[in-house]
Amino acid sequence: MTYAAITGWGKCLPPATLTNDDLATFLETDDEWITSRTGMKERRISHVTVSELAYVACARALAAAGKTAEDVDLIVFGSTTFDELCPNAASNVQRLLGAKNAACMDVSTACTGGMYSLSVATSMIKSGVVKSALVIGAETISPIMDWENRDVAVLFGDGSAALYLEQSDEESGVITEALGCYGESRDILSVEGWGMKYANKGRVLGQTNWAFLGQEIFKKAVAGMAQACDKALAKAELSAEQITSVVPHQANLRIIDTLVKRLKMDKEKVFVNIHKYGNMSAATTLVAFVEAIEESFIAKDSYVLLPAFGGGLTWSAHVVKWGNRNHALATTDVKLPECDKSGLELVTDIINAKKSVTN
Ligand code: ACO
Repeated sequence: MTYAAITGWGKCLPPATLTNDDLATFLETDDEWITSRTGMKERRISHVTVSELAYVACARALAAAGKTAEDVDLIVFGSTTFDELCPNAASNVQRLLGAKNAACMDVSTACTGGMYSLSVATSMIKSGVVKSALVIGAETISPIMDWENRDVAVLFGDGSAALYLEQSDEESGVITEALGCYGESRDILSVEGWGMKYANKGRVLGQTNWAFLGQEIFKKAVAGMAQACDKALAKAELSAEQITSVVPHQANLRIIDTLVKRLKMDKEKVFVNIHKYGNMSAATTLVAFVEAIEESFIAKDSYVLLPAFGGGLTWSAHVVKWGNRNHALATTDVKLPECDKSGLELVTDIINAKKSVTN
């Protein structure tokens, strides 16, 4: 049988940090509310485009796999904040990397974007369409955030991660997954102004209103991820006890805790980094996975469960068989350009730019 082994991994978080106290300087909120309701302490704000973040994460993933850009057959880019819709964002990453042999596609499923992209790339490798792929989860939410809305502005951050996959005969990579969507509830997490139906309607691009039923999303997130985990584990013929580590989407620490209780799993098995980055939408689960690998949270030759949930309302869970290597084969000098602003300064620039075009 053919598998799609994960042999390279990399992440790229923009350096500027926006803390809960920073948010409290322009929103009626405080560190205690945000920490107790979400588990978040700070998030990153990008000074570059989402394609640039993705490019650096990909360069790091390729180095970790000991591969060059020319080895890549396919680039799958999961995001909801693509720089452009045409040409697609994956083609920009191809150009930046010099991955001239790669086919390129974008995948849009909101917070599950990185994980749906992992399914697309794995399936194309398993079916023999390609032999290798870069999978990206990357997001720059900050330019389109409604920074006046405390219900949502405190929840999100920017970031990116990438995995390198290659064909293998050994059981490795995604073993099973379950994907689904609560389309009938799609309106409980929607962003007015973010898409083509708003074109030529007198609206400024980037001016958004987030329609967000937090408590309803919370319940659907737990239900969707729980059923996805049950299905993926059943397909793999594995019990929850056989899972060594769980790396969930990080939208809210209380969602993670509720899910883990529902799955009857040991909390010690769960990787959490929400306090550092908040919810980075399509980047979240892959950034957490890459960080879990880097910190040796993922044991060699073990099974990992990756549940995720996002707008749509899309849900997913992947069972990954991890290999016997969690050290990078090499590193790269590729990095982001310097950033001379703080997170608060970058957000203030966005708020002022929006005011100047709407006045
Ligand atoms: N600071 C202070 N007060 C706030 C803030 C804030 N940042 N945001 C909302 N509030 C207030 C509201 O105005 C409301 O006040 P009121 O009671 O006077 O009307 C009150 O806090 C709301 O409190 P709760 O409803 O108890 O808040 P809750 O515990 O449900 O937490 C949250 C809200 C964090 C959004 C939660 O519902 C949640 O995490 N939901 C799901 C996650 C989510 O939506 N993530 C977004 C991404 S989607 C995804 O990744 C799947």
